[in-house]
Amino acid sequence: MTESFMWVEKYRPMKLSSIINQKEIIGSLKSLLKNISEMPHLMFSGSAGIGKTTTSLCLAREILGNSWREYTLELNASDERGINMVRDRVKKFARFSGLDTKIPFKLVILDEADEMTADAQTALRRIIEDTAGHCRFIMIANNISKIIEPLQSRCAVFKFTRISEEEITGYLEEICKKEKIKYNKDGLKALYLYSEGDMRHSINMLQATASLGIVNEDNVKASAGLAKISDVGEILKIALSGKLTDARNKMVELIKIYGMSESDFLKYLNEECYKLKTDHLSDILESIAKYDYRLIIGANPEIQLSALLAELGKIGK
Ligand SMILES: Nc1ncnc2c1ncn2[C@@H]1O[C@H](COP(=O)(O)OP(=O)(O)O)[C@@H](O)[C@H]1O
Ligand SMILES: [Mg+2]
Repeated sequence: MTESFMWVEKYRPMKLSSIINQKEIIGSLKSLLKNISEMPHLMFSGSAGIGKTTTSLCLAREILGNSWREYTLELNASDERGINMVRDRVKKFARFSGLDTKIPFKLVILDEADEMTADAQTALRRIIEDTAGHCRFIMIANNISKIIEPLQSRCAVFKFTRISEEEITGYLEEICKKEKIKYNKDGLKALYLYSEGDMRHSINMLQATASLGIVNEDNVKASAGLAKISDVGEILKIALSGKLTDARNKMVELIKIYGMSESDFLKYLNEECYKLKTDHLSDILESIAKYDYRLIIGANPEIQLSALLAELGKIGK
């Protein structure tokens, strides 16, 4: 699926005024926009899928106008290349001066800032200070308590909230109408319940459900089952990156809470590893086969699958 077919992109608000459920935040941002040259650095915190990135992009449009892309640098702080990559990119970006002198400053949107170590955050603070003449930063963090105080104190902090049931179902209903999809209220409610106030998740599930037919409770449940298959791919990536505990917790959740059988878990794992760009494919496949055999001859599934995840971590090294 390419981006334009993804409803989360197609229905991503382009203007601050179209962002739902974050009224207070949008109100304060709009008043900041009245005196743009005085705008402080911003920090957006809150859980996934509630409009943090969208709001950053809308701000970029409103501050920088048509050429916003040119003057906006989007970075992901949890990128494996780390703080040095951030420093290099920001320095280059701050230095380059475009022809358009009408812009007040350039914008750096730094996503997942809370994934940075405290040392990297300290380095980031220096970068922000050194480039203050040319750049404003919008930092995005799921968990603000992981951001060091000196960084927090340099920003105006905005805490985004989960989106309410009426607002999620209302938004999904609009999309259904625009896409000419059949739906009923129970289907929309089920989408809200599964997504727990995460708008991105609810729109993705709506799209998955619509491909099955009418958006009713049964089809939402069916598509939620399918979504879990992609979680197996996620677990595979986490395991290969060596985060054994995280991978194991997610695996246990899939099996205990969502009722995926151990043999299905291995089957999906087998499918998902072909989607990875990895040099370790043959090692991964061999491991999966080994543990598949152990399960068939009756070994304890939880112990075996945990050992498999540990082995994937070694392979990923
Ligand atoms: N407050 C919101 N109003 C309207 N759409 C939203 C809102 N929050 C999220 N969305 C939808 O979910 C998608 C992901 O939102 P995003 O801003 O990337 O979330 P995050 O908070 O994780 O950065 C958007 O493309 C949009 O379709
Ligand atoms: Mg985001």
